[in-house]
Amino acid sequence: MSFTFKRIEPGSLVLVTGATGLIGSSVAVLLLDSGYKVRAATRSVEKQKPFQQMLESNYGKDAIEFVGVKDYTDPAAWDEILKDVQGVIHLASDLSFSPKYEEVVPTVEALTKTFINATSKASSVKSVVLTSSRIAAYDPVFGQDLNVTVNDWADYHIDNAKAIKQDDPMAPIAIYAASKVVGEHMAWDFVKHNRPHFAFNTVLPEFVAGPVANPTPGMYSTHTFLNDLFLGKSDGPAVAFMRPAGRFVDVRDVAAVHVAGLLETHLDGQRLWASAHKHTIDDILAAWREAFPDRKILPDFKFPNQPDINVDDEQSTALLKAFTGGIGTLSRRQSSPTCKACFSSSERI
Ligand SMILES: *[C@@H]1O[C@H](CO)[C@@H](O)[C@H](O)[C@H]1NC(C)=O
Ligand SMILES: *[C@@H]1O[C@H](CO)[C@@H](O)[C@H](O)[C@H]1NC(C)=O
Repeated sequence: MSFTFKRIEPGSLVLVTGATGLIGSSVAVLLLDSGYKVRAATRSVEKQKPFQQMLESNYGKDAIEFVGVKDYTDPAAWDEILKDVQGVIHLASDLSFSPKYEEVVPTVEALTKTFINATSKASSVKSVVLTSSRIAAYDPVFGQDLNVTVNDWADYHIDNAKAIKQDDPMAPIAIYAASKVVGEHMAWDFVKHNRPHFAFNTVLPEFVAGPVANPTPGMYSTHTFLNDLFLGKSDGPAVAFMRPAGRFVDVRDVAAVHVAGLLETHLDGQRLWASAHKHTIDDILAAWREAFPDRKILPDFKFPNQPDINVDDEQSTALLKAFTGGIGTLSRRQSSPTCKACFSSSERI
């Protein structure tokens, strides 16, 4: 396939929900860098002043608009934020990592239903990208090598999440996993049955590392989990996510797959990997030891029987390379160890 990235003209307005998070803030910056106007939807605009000011001073007040959305399950909120929008990148979800199924999964279900239904009625929209997760396609298991494809679904997460006890340390991740499966399925089912007028694609990021584009202090999902590990916390979510190792990706590559998927003229109905390469938690520790020789880094975890996971990422890699002018995904060495520069005023990586 030859790529042209012409589905949406530069200068057009793109809605990004969850625009202040780890992936969302990188997506917003990349869209602005690419000449698009961004409507950044976030739950609380007030808390996001540093990011808003940074974007306004870098790109101009005309290019960026911040809107507060208290409740993404409210159809009226969507009617408002979809006005005059040509592209939608929908990242907003429930990232509370609550251990309670009923607090998370029904919310994500309702939010996704409202998002796709409202968007299908917004005639200006030409292209929509939904952020899913590799966790909706597979989960790494010790001793079990996998060749995963974009047609795979980890539907077992739903039953696991319903059965897991709230005090199980894996409960927050099991429930998050179920919410991603349920949310992505719901969007595809709607698209299949209602055939909306826009192109629809999803992105499945692996474990996301790299710098946070948003300077506002806060919780940035896997970035914060990695930061805790960097600071010596050996029992946090980073370890839970990476015990049996999957794969790794830098946030800037995740953003580029989203924007490339939104803009690519010929792309429709695809799940796109955002995936760089295999890694284990000990690979990350080794990269830090090299980058920060004077710092005490946790000893290796040495989990045995790490699986060998391959994904069919030829299409998304070709898309990414075409969009970035030949650059593929960043390696772990280029990514997490260099992030300290982005947070030099604190101990964040
Ligand atoms: C979609 O929205 C319309 C109102 O605009 C509503 O009548 C319909 O029930 C909704 N469909 C779904 C699947 O939620
Ligand atoms: C994955 O695919 C490779 C190449 O086709 C093959 O050699 C390997 O056995 C496969 N692994 C699994 C676990 O199926």
